[in-house]
Amino acid sequence: MSTLALAVENSERLSVRDCVSDRELSREDVYLILQLAERVKASPGSFARALEGRQLALIFEKPSLRTRVTFEVAMTSMGGHAIYLDHAKPRLGERESIKDIAKNLERWVDGIVARTFAQSAVDELAEHAAIPVINALTDTWHPCQALGDFMTLGEKFGRLKNMKVAFVGDGNNVCHSLMVTGAKLGVSLNVATPAGFEPKAEIVGEAKAIARKNGGKIHLHHDPAEAVGGAQAVYTDVWASMGQEYAAHLRTQVFAPFQVNEALMSRADSGAVFMHCLPAHRGLEVSEGVMDSPRSIVYEQAENRLYVEKALLMLLIENHGR
Ligand code: CP
Ligand code: NVA
Repeated sequence: MSTLALAVENSERLSVRDCVSDRELSREDVYLILQLAERVKASPGSFARALEGRQLALIFEKPSLRTRVTFEVAMTSMGGHAIYLDHAKPRLGERESIKDIAKNLERWVDGIVARTFAQSAVDELAEHAAIPVINALTDTWHPCQALGDFMTLGEKFGRLKNMKVAFVGDGNNVCHSLMVTGAKLGVSLNVATPAGFEPKAEIVGEAKAIARKNGGKIHLHHDPAEAVGGAQAVYTDVWASMGQEYAAHLRTQVFAPFQVNEALMSRADSGAVFMHCLPAHRGLEVSEGVMDSPRSIVYEQAENRLYVEKALLMLLIENHGR
C-alpha cells in the first residue's frame, strides 16, 4: 500500500494551474503529486502515451544536470517532446519582455518549465502564459526538488508525518522549499545555519504556521549538532548557490563548522539518512565518507525527481483547460 495512503480524499485535480513555488500547492495537491509519482514509478509503461503529442519549453538561465534531463526524459517517455531554450545569455526579459515570451510560447507549446535567478521571472511567465508554468529552481524556491525528496523519505521510512529532518548549511532556495512542503506533510524541520544565513524570515513564518496545523515544527539553530539531534534525515546543500560564485571563498570559511561529516551524523538518529539535492562538493558541505556511505540516499533523490516531475506534468498539462 502507498506510504501516502492517508492522503487525498477529494480529487484528481490540482487546485493550481501552475507550480511557481511550494507556497501555492495545497496539502492535498502535494499528496496527489506524490501518490501519482508512486504509481508512475511502479508502472512507467502505463503512462507511455500520457502526454502524446504534447510540447514543453524548458527555459534555463542557470546550468542543470538533473532538472533538465529529468524533464526531457519525462516528456519523451510519455510520448511528448521538450525544447531546451538556453537563457544563460541573454537572461529572460533582456531580448524581449517576459510577457511577450509567454504570449509566444503559449501559441506553440503546452507548458513551460523555467529556471531563473529572480522568482519574479517565473511569476511573470505564469501571469501572462495561458499554459502551465513550472518552477525549475529560482533564487527563492526549488519545489520539484522538495517533492522528489519527500517521495524519497516516504519510501525509505514508510511514513512522512512526524518525521524530523535537519537541514544544515545555507538558508537557501532548497531550504525554503523543504520547510514549506515539509510543513504540509507534517514533517518537522530543524534548520542550522551560520548567523546571517538564515532562511527568509517571511518564509519561516509561513512554514511555521502551516506546520502548526499539520502537527510539525520548524526550528532555527546556529549549532548544527543541536539541530541534527533526533533527526531521521540530515540534509545539506552547496554553501554558494548558482549566482553566488563570487562569494564562494568567503562562504567556505564561514560555513566550515557546518560540514556534514561522520561526527555530525553520529549526533543524529542511529538510522538517519544523508540527503543532498546535488550537485555536491565532497570535502566542503559534506565529507567524502558521508556522501559515499550506505546512509546516503542522494541518488535515490535524483531518481525520484523524474517521477514527481512526470506526475506534475500530467496533472498540470492534462488538466489544463478541462
Ligand atoms: N538538484 C538539481 O536541481 O540539480 P540540477 O541543478 O543539476 O538540475
Ligand atoms: N541551492 C542550489 C541548488 C542547486 C540544485 C543552487 O541554487 O545553486
